[in-house]
Amino acid sequence: QLPEKVTIIEVGPRDGLQNEKAFVPTDIKKDFIKGLKNAGLTEMELTSFVSPKWVPQMGDAAEIVTDCLDDQTRNIVLAPNRKGIDRVYMTDCKAVAVFVGVSNTFNQKNINKSTQESMAELTPIISELKEKGYFVRACISTAFYCPYEGKIDPEDTLSLCRQFVEAGVDELSVADTIGMAAPHESFHLFSGLRNEFPDTLLTAHFHDTRKMALANILAALQAGIDRFDTSAGGLGGCPFAPGASGNAATEDVVYMLERMGIETNVDLEKLVEVISIVAPHLSRSIDSMYYSLQQQT
Ligand code: HMG
Ligand code: MG
Repeated sequence: QLPEKVTIIEVGPRDGLQNEKAFVPTDIKKDFIKGLKNAGLTEMELTSFVSPKWVPQMGDAAEIVTDCLDDQTRNIVLAPNRKGIDRVYMTDCKAVAVFVGVSNTFNQKNINKSTQESMAELTPIISELKEKGYFVRACISTAFYCPYEGKIDPEDTLSLCRQFVEAGVDELSVADTIGMAAPHESFHLFSGLRNEFPDTLLTAHFHDTRKMALANILAALQAGIDRFDTSAGGLGGCPFAPGASGNAATEDVVYMLERMGIETNVDLEKLVEVISIVAPHLSRSIDSMYYSLQQQT
């Protein structure tokens, strides 16, 4: 039994842009975000409050947040540590995503701590955020495979998710960071998660390195998942995960879902226009199926 309606969490402004070497002008990022909202996307990662030395592209986070908040959207920002949370507190943003890798090696490369050191820092932060009334999302990286450690035991992913649920998060976004999962693995892990955490918002985050994101999304849908992180234009990738190419493209996912009769509320025509705003400022070309076909007609 597939859902009648799916929620798309747009991660283009954050995951999509963080890996771009040349700085995308802040005004272009703002137009991108506003255009995405206008295309009907109601949940979105706007930016991240990480170290600008590690990820210079996200150095304009405070300015983005100041100009892009609105009441119609769940505007989410990433923060890796106390310093990031304190920067969030300086803004009016009310939804925060923390992020940890199941793989220790990946976590060290990405945030310079072991997975359990990160959890020790984040657990009290999550309680504090919940007391202050924030929406808290936990992004779980390397949930299937790690570029350094190889295959991840699904039990390790479940156990990290359990720690986050016990800490009080509202949402788990479970990620195939380097696009290596196959549909049977997607179905298996998301069935397990759906079963164990019936009261937590569960979101699937697929990178499309091996063009399996759509198949993995279908498998996750069959496992009862109705929330997907996607990126306009299929942009994306983590600078500290070799092999993390773009996310599942929002337009291709929306196209598939709408063709299946599943409602997303995203306007594809407007979405294509928005991608054209950011495309000239990127070092890569947009190769999503739906966008490429539209450019030819
Ligand atoms: P560190 O070097 O260990 O940090 O980095 P530190 O605490 O030793 O501080 C070093 C300097 O950074 C200090 O400044 C701090 O003030 C500053 P200095 O004294 O040298 O001038 N600093 C900060 N500045 C601004 N904001 C902060 C902050 N924290 C420290 N929050 C740190 C540790 C976590 C900061 C660093 O490793 C980092 O920023 N990592 C972020 C990496 C990242 O953004 N990765 C991509 C996002 S995750 C992802 O893409 C995966 C996902 O999409 C799911 C999936 O696909 O898997 C979510
Ligand atoms: Mg990602």
